[in-house]
Amino acid sequence: MFYGLTSDEQRRKLKTAITLMTEIYPRIFSGDHLITVERCMSFLDDDRFMHAYDRNAVTDQEKTLIWRLHTLAWAARHGSHLPGDFVECGVYQGFCSAVLLEYLDFGTLQKQRTYYLYDTFTGIPDGYQDATRTEHNPTDEPGLIDRVTERFRAYPNVRIVPGIVPEVFNSGQVPEQIAFLHLDMNSAKAELGALDWLFARVVAGGIVIFDDYGWWAYRNQQQQENEFMRRLGYTILELPTGQGLVVKRHGG
Ligand SMILES: C[S@@+](CC[C@H](N)C(=O)[O-])C[C@H]1O[C@@H](n2cnc3c(N)ncnc32)[C@H](O)[C@@H]1O
Repeated sequence: MFYGLTSDEQRRKLKTAITLMTEIYPRIFSGDHLITVERCMSFLDDDRFMHAYDRNAVTDQEKTLIWRLHTLAWAARHGSHLPGDFVECGVYQGFCSAVLLEYLDFGTLQKQRTYYLYDTFTGIPDGYQDATRTEHNPTDEPGLIDRVTERFRAYPNVRIVPGIVPEVFNSGQVPEQIAFLHLDMNSAKAELGALDWLFARVVAGGIVIFDDYGWWAYRNQQQQENEFMRRLGYTILELPTGQGLVVKRHGG
């Protein structure tokens, strides 16, 4: 299965390699810098997930992210059985949250809780860019906040909170209890600041997903997040998708 690649040259080379591999392994996944052979890929049989994913994955880039999205869907579903709100720090156009909201029918079946969405909606702010990362910040798009607001208009229990993480938490718009936390800001300083505020609020059994945790380009961020979590007695599990995962053992 191909779920999008980045350039024509990469696509051609990878296609050749994978065509050869299928002569040995007929069942292959390739996408999002992840190649697996002979896996069940049981997310393909999760009709509810596939429906939510297919309806929201529009761009080629979004179409590469299916396995990552399934990790999130699993963690969010787990959180839907716990007390507390849902939080995403780093929303951009709202793709991940759109899939999760639809997957869980959040506006109807989860209406007793709130889904908080934190972002500057103008890209990584000054002073938050990791020194080891030099690429152009691609998320500073005019009108982004308006498009995201429109996207989630149908969900009265989605709360969009524009501002810099973690400073924005001083506004008081921060949940007391968190059942599911997704950190996706591509900035160690922002994610550590978010953890400082939010990890204590994650309830027992609640899951934290670190989006860029296992990516080589973000190893500096991984080290800092490891140190932070180690001080609290946790180790982060690096998933083959590049995500990191922690299960909170107890509240507070
Ligand atoms: C990779 S994108 C998030 C992708 C998103 N989870 C999705 O579903 O597509 C990273 C986002 O983090 C935001 N961001 C980065 N640093 C931030 C900070 N300190 N405070 C708030 N938002 C921040 C950027 O504006 C950007 O929209």
